[in-house]
Parts: sequence; structure tokens; C-alpha cells
Amino acid sequence: MSECEVVQLAREGEIAWITLNRPNALNALNALNAAVRARLPAALREADGDPEVRVIVLRGAGPRAFCAGADIREFSTPTTPIAHRGRRANDDWTHVFERIGKPLVAAIHGFCLGGGLEIALACDIRVATSDARLGLPEVSLGIIPGAGGTQRLSRVVGLGAALDMILTGEPIDAATAMRIGLISRIAEDGDVEALARRVAMTIAGRAPLAVVAAKEAVRKGADAGLEAGLRLELDLSSLLMDSEDRREAAAAFRDKRRPVFKGR
Ligand code: COA
Repeated sequence: MSECEVVQLAREGEIAWITLNRPNALNALNALNAAVRARLPAALREADGDPEVRVIVLRGAGPRAFCAGADIREFSTPTTPIAHRGRRANDDWTHVFERIGKPLVAAIHGFCLGGGLEIALACDIRVATSDARLGLPEVSLGIIPGAGGTQRLSRVVGLGAALDMILTGEPIDAATAMRIGLISRIAEDGDVEALARRVAMTIAGRAPLAVVAAKEAVRKGADAGLEAGLRLELDLSSLLMDSEDRREAAAAFRDKRRPVFKGR
């Protein structure tokens, strides 16, 4: 891992940590920085493809922010249609999350704004410190959330709360985020990485094929409609019926011991 990389990937046992690393600018993402756009998908794919990794956690470097969004300092440069088309051709980084099979956890502290919240929204689980501030302030900058925010926020919190956040542009605190379901746990002691690690380790202790299938059933089913979702659930359940891990779980229950899962 290189210290100066804007997006860092490091493995700690069964957890891959992806760090947004630009703390002097509150980890703001250079909107036109090809390195971020290329590196984040590459890090996600690398972690997803690593057989040792069971859970991927995203975090922000430095004490103040998960990520304060797109780099506003770049907004004063007028974008040309050609540059804009180039960006559109390279928008893979907002789609790549949908193709990651392993669970993604966002460990949020401090500011989580704009593109920062959009990255967190693309994760499966969001946990935060109690002083976290989460928001999509784009309309106050003359733009709209453009990295999945208008689509993913309503899927997580429902249309009402999503439209409130998106149309007012006002950030919310962790307690409110918890109430509307935007985050699912708060690190009361301020140590969000320890909390994210605990969540990740719990997931890593479950049967690997079942975890990946459960994520697929929930995520793909949510957009497929109930009939298709129930079909998908049945298909994935059937696939798991013959797994070694299912037999191991039953044997461990019988023997009153912890199961040892192999992902087979
Ligand atoms: N883009 C570029 N730089 C940013 C940034 C962003 N989105 N957010 C913060 N920074 C930079 C600041 O310019 C500052 O840099 P400097 O020290 O070189 O001046 C540094 O990060 C620290 O931020 P600062 O504004 O001094 O801290 P603060 O505590 O007063 O305010 C925020 C923190 C997050 C409230 C404020 O920085 C902010 O509103 N940022 C913009 C957030 C936003 O609208 N994001 C969505 C973009 S679509």
C-alpha cells in the first residue's frame, strides 16, 4: 500500500480496508481526477476477487471526514461538452458497487457529504460516529447528486426522507440518520473503525456462500419486484441446500460447537 495514494487498499485478515485518503481536503474527491475514478473501482474489484477477503470496509483518512464530496474548487472551471462526455464514459465507479458480491460496510466519521454520502449509500451497511454529519448539499451548488444519490438514497430511506434531504440540501446528524434508517449502528465511544471491524468480523464468521447469496437476494430482489424477488430467493436457497457449510452448521449444532465454514 502506498501512503500517497488517494484510494488505499489494505488487508487485515478477512477484512479489506479501502481508505479515501486526502485528509487535507476532508477526503474530497477530485471530480476530474482520473486516479480516483479508476482506483476506487480497481480497489473494490481487487478486494472482491481476493479469496481471503470476506468483507470490505470503506473509511476516510484523517480525523474530520469520511468524505466531504466532490472537490468544489474544481467547479469554477467550466466543463466542456467533450470533457463531460469523457466523464460519462468513465462513470463506472458509481456502477461498480452493484457488481461487488461481498458485503460492503461504510465506516463513517465526521463529514459525509455529497459524493461521500453517495459512496456510503452504495455500501450495504453504514455505521457512524455520533458526531457524523450526512447530507447531499448539491442543490446549494447548482447541481444535483450525480453519483447515485438521487437513486440510492430513496431506496435506503424511502422517498419522503430522501426528498427532504435532497431538496433542502441540509445535512443531518447521526441520531436522525439512525432514525430514518440511513445508518444502522452508532459508535457511541467514537471508534467507528472498531465498530465496523466488529460488524465485519461477525459477517466473516458466517457461512461465506450464504452471506453472498443473502446479499444478492436482498439487493437484486429489491429492484426486481416481489414476484421475481421471491423466485430469486428460492433459486439461491436451492443452490445452498447441498453446500458443505450447511451440513457443517447442522453437525456443529448437534455437537454443540462452533461451525468451521469453508465456503463450499
Ligand atoms: N472540495 C474541496 N475542498 C474541500 C471540500 C470539498 N468538497 N470540503 C472541504 N474542503 C477543504 C476546504 O477547502 C479546506 O481546505 P483549506 O484548508 O485548504 O482551505 C479543508 O478542506 C477543510 O475544510 P474547512 O471548510 O476549512 O472546514 P470547516 O470545518 O470550516 O467546514 C465543511 C467543513 C465540510 C462544512 C465545509 O468544508 C464544506 O461545506 N465543504 C463542502 C461540502 C460539500 O458541499 N460537498 C458536496 C460537494 S458536491
